[in-house]
Amino acid sequence: MTTNRTFTMIKPDAVANGHAGKILDHIIQAGYKVVALKYTHLSAEKAGEFYAVHNERPFYKDLVDFMISGPIYAAILEKDNAVEDFRKVIGATDPSKAEAGTIRNLFAKSIDANAIHGSDSDENAAIEGNFFFAENERF
Ligand code: CMP
Repeated sequence: MTTNRTFTMIKPDAVANGHAGKILDHIIQAGYKVVALKYTHLSAEKAGEFYAVHNERPFYKDLVDFMISGPIYAAILEKDNAVEDFRKVIGATDPSKAEAGTIRNLFAKSIDANAIHGSDSDENAAIEGNFFFAENERF
């Protein structure tokens, strides 16, 4: 089933570099409605749980350390074809391969500090949104 929602995090590098406002505006200009939004600082436990799917990968520890290095913005976003279109809006995971004008091309420095997360499937969008937001935090 295709749903019209995806989940995103503006990562610690983008927040620390003062890019969060520009990234949120970019997302809204791309046609997304912000359904839920939270400014938060992940604990090691929460970040490890969020990225548990990667816990066998060599980059897992660095990923968790990076994600707890500063506050993030978490959001649920709504638009037709939300997941697939958002992957185009943010660009490739490795910013050196991200197309011009994508969020990672504009604001990310490396595959670790890559500015933004976007869900890779409708199923994960629902799981990730539920990880951060209760029903009464969505509008
Ligand atoms: P994200 O979309 O948040 O999902 C997992 C993250 O792991 C990814 O963005 C990258 O920031 C990070 N990462 C670090 N190294 C790699 C890698 N070799 N392949 C995929 N993701 C990586």
